[in-house]
Amino acid sequence: MKRLEELPAFYTVVFDGLHAQLLPSVTQIFQLELAWLETQVLDSYQLKERSAFFQTIDEIPTKHYLLFEKNKISTGYAVHDLYPSRARLHPQIVKGILNAVQVSRGDVVLDPLCGSGTTNLEAIFLGADSIAVDLNPINRLMTRVKYEVLKLPLETLEQIPDRAQELFETVSDPAKLESIRAMENSEEGTIHYLALLAFLHALRWASNRQSRSASRPPKVSPALFRRALHHYYRIIHTFVTNPEFHPYELGSLRVLPNVDARTLEGIEDASVDVVLTSPPYSLASDYVRSDYPQLQFLGIDIHELREKLIGLTPKNVKERVERYFTDMEQVFSAIARVLKPHKWFILVIGKPTLREAPADFLDRIQQMVEQQGFRLYRDIPKPIKGTRDEWHEEHILFYRKEGSRSETGVTE
Ligand SMILES: C[S@@+](CC[C@H](N)C(=O)[O-])C[C@H]1O[C@@H](n2cnc3c(N)ncnc32)[C@H](O)[C@@H]1O
Repeated sequence: MKRLEELPAFYTVVFDGLHAQLLPSVTQIFQLELAWLETQVLDSYQLKERSAFFQTIDEIPTKHYLLFEKNKISTGYAVHDLYPSRARLHPQIVKGILNAVQVSRGDVVLDPLCGSGTTNLEAIFLGADSIAVDLNPINRLMTRVKYEVLKLPLETLEQIPDRAQELFETVSDPAKLESIRAMENSEEGTIHYLALLAFLHALRWASNRQSRSASRPPKVSPALFRRALHHYYRIIHTFVTNPEFHPYELGSLRVLPNVDARTLEGIEDASVDVVLTSPPYSLASDYVRSDYPQLQFLGIDIHELREKLIGLTPKNVKERVERYFTDMEQVFSAIARVLKPHKWFILVIGKPTLREAPADFLDRIQQMVEQQGFRLYRDIPKPIKGTRDEWHEEHILFYRKEGSRSETGVTE
């Protein structure tokens, strides 16, 4: 038996003698597991450059700490907090997962259900190229804006607050949406898309203030828009003026227009290196409802969109669950098609405890993935706080696409 004073620091044991300090935001076991995976697959230089969970390595502050957590320990670091959504993946976890599978510059990372674009943004920060797919146009807009604003020259960015009135006049008028589209792929286009996103955010604020029974659509005043735009400006400015931020190191992003995750049309077979995604948590909640006023403003047919979104229809819960499985099977098959052999597919999925959902929900999902030629290599359970009645636990499932019969001559 040893005495307390003889024992080494706990972390040096866990991390194999590595002289490292974890970030104070690491408080849960699944984070510790991801941190440990990072120490196993990255060398100490790489850990300083890209680890998601360490504050220092060999007493030198990590880039993650200097960029994201030095001044503000938050889940919405960088530009992740533009148009925040409750269902989004946690950026730090995404980064840890991408590190664990050793994503590197030039790799192509796809999220076929990109939501807020968390996977895409973290992939780009690691120098990888990324593809984003989502049927909700607001999600495509926000993913794209979060990336494009990082490329704006500082002088251009700094003019934005003074342009609030002029931008309000354009983005608050649905008749002018076409003229914004015509500016695409230019600095002016980026500024207008940013302003449009800020306007939609203000619209969300306005509709949250309104009672549910209000008959008129919520209205955004110029002052409310200015507040949203300033809020966005401050988030972006703080990040891009950090001395550790280098826009030239970013990978590229392609946000595909109106592509369905069940087909992934337009993405070539065996062209993607990593897929990281999290399917809709729709058995527990209606995830587009909070976007209704914003979708209406954009002229989107909500009924038509809901029909295509996974897990929202039909009304009958039993039938909805069955449709969810059929849809997810198609998504997994499309992922198997676009992923290169032997590459990683990471699925972050909640385990429902709702009475309506079948007890074998997760087993059925896992069987479906395996039927598409994937093999499970690691399952990291992750508790979800505060939603005990609905989804009490998520799993980070690391699958690899195994070689096919035709490719290797044998089934692996
Ligand atoms: C749980 S959210 C993903 C959250 C995301 N991981 C994040 O960090 O924000 C699921 C997303 O799937 C999208 N979606 C649902 N059905 C789809 C389909 N058939 N094709 C493409 N996207 C779809 C929804 O619009 C929603 O944004």
